[in-house]
Amino acid sequence: RFIKSLTTSPSSHVLRRGYASEAVPERKVAVLGAAGGIGQPLSLLMKLNPLVSNLALYDIANTPGVAADVSHINTRSEVVGYASDAELGKALEGADVVIIPAGVPRKPGMTRDDLFNINAGIVKGLCEAIAKHCPNALVNMISNPVNSTVPIAAEVFKKAGTYDPKRLFGVTTLDVVRAKTFYAGKAMVPVAEVNVPVVGGHAGITILPLFSQATPKANLSDEVITALTKRTQDGGTEVVEAKAGKGSATLSMAYAGAIFADACLKGLNGVPDVIECSFVQSTVTELPFFASRVRLGKNGVEEVLGLGPLSDFEKEGLEKLKPELKSSIEKGIKFATQ
Ligand code: NAI
Repeated sequence: RFIKSLTTSPSSHVLRRGYASEAVPERKVAVLGAAGGIGQPLSLLMKLNPLVSNLALYDIANTPGVAADVSHINTRSEVVGYASDAELGKALEGADVVIIPAGVPRKPGMTRDDLFNINAGIVKGLCEAIAKHCPNALVNMISNPVNSTVPIAAEVFKKAGTYDPKRLFGVTTLDVVRAKTFYAGKAMVPVAEVNVPVVGGHAGITILPLFSQATPKANLSDEVITALTKRTQDGGTEVVEAKAGKGSATLSMAYAGAIFADACLKGLNGVPDVIECSFVQSTVTELPFFASRVRLGKNGVEEVLGLGPLSDFEKEGLEKLKPELKSSIEKGIKFATQ
């Protein structure tokens, strides 16, 4: 185990290191599935995040090597690897944010729903442990199908009596990252300035980018908007096909997961106006879970923001996605309650 001595203030439990005037609270982040294709670069990016003081890396295979490797990086957080089911409780104890990229990825020809049979069980087991060991943590669910794994997590937490809808997030940030990149390419605007909300869910047509609200504004034709929408919806499949059997998006997903976890940490630390899209319990539509912009705060979700004005094309997309999203949510609930 790699323990580093840190200068802490015993009275306030805050850590002062490299910050002249501001105190950065201690925050523990646990990554479950840390040795996987997403888990490794995500663990690296979380190690680079100065808001993290403790980084727990858990996987059922290959954890010691990843943890030893990441632990040598000279940044703030103390890294500990946890390698077996027996160590899961320790990995989770005291965690403020738990990120879950555990589970199998797609191969060419597979939909995210094809992963359900394996990943539903993995997520259920991990969430049972979260309910037991860190019921107040913010849970960032990456494992697919997110449209079903988030409802599974909710049911597991309800059963354990720990469910707080403000603390459960399906990570849809990669859809936003893709929408921003693809939009910037067509709109000829600097990509770093682009904002595009992506709503709905995280699979195929349930991914609905709202390019009518994209900024900076650009006068794109209907044909271009249709093509951008389709490319955003099929972005994951584009990567799965390019990797030709070697998995799905890992590097861009690690980036997206790190952005979302950073937003959660900033919210916990009281940074104002932290807004990201996420698949959460929602009343924005008649569906119990829905991705939209959410404001993050000290308790997780502070506010689920509405959809804003939609174009006719987006209104149509919204109606089209509802039946599929509804059935994926119900499938998750059914699995967890049976
Ligand atoms: P991978 O197969 O490379 O890594 C998965 C890791 O999970 C492996 O190291 C494995 O040992 C570990 N694992 C399996 N069962 C576990 C358990 N019970 N506890 C802890 N760890 C366990 O897969 P990859 O590419 O990292 O993808 C992971 C998941 O993320 C997949 O379900 C994939 O579909 C999903 N994904 C989600 C995206 C999103 O936007 N939300 C984007 C891309 C992938």
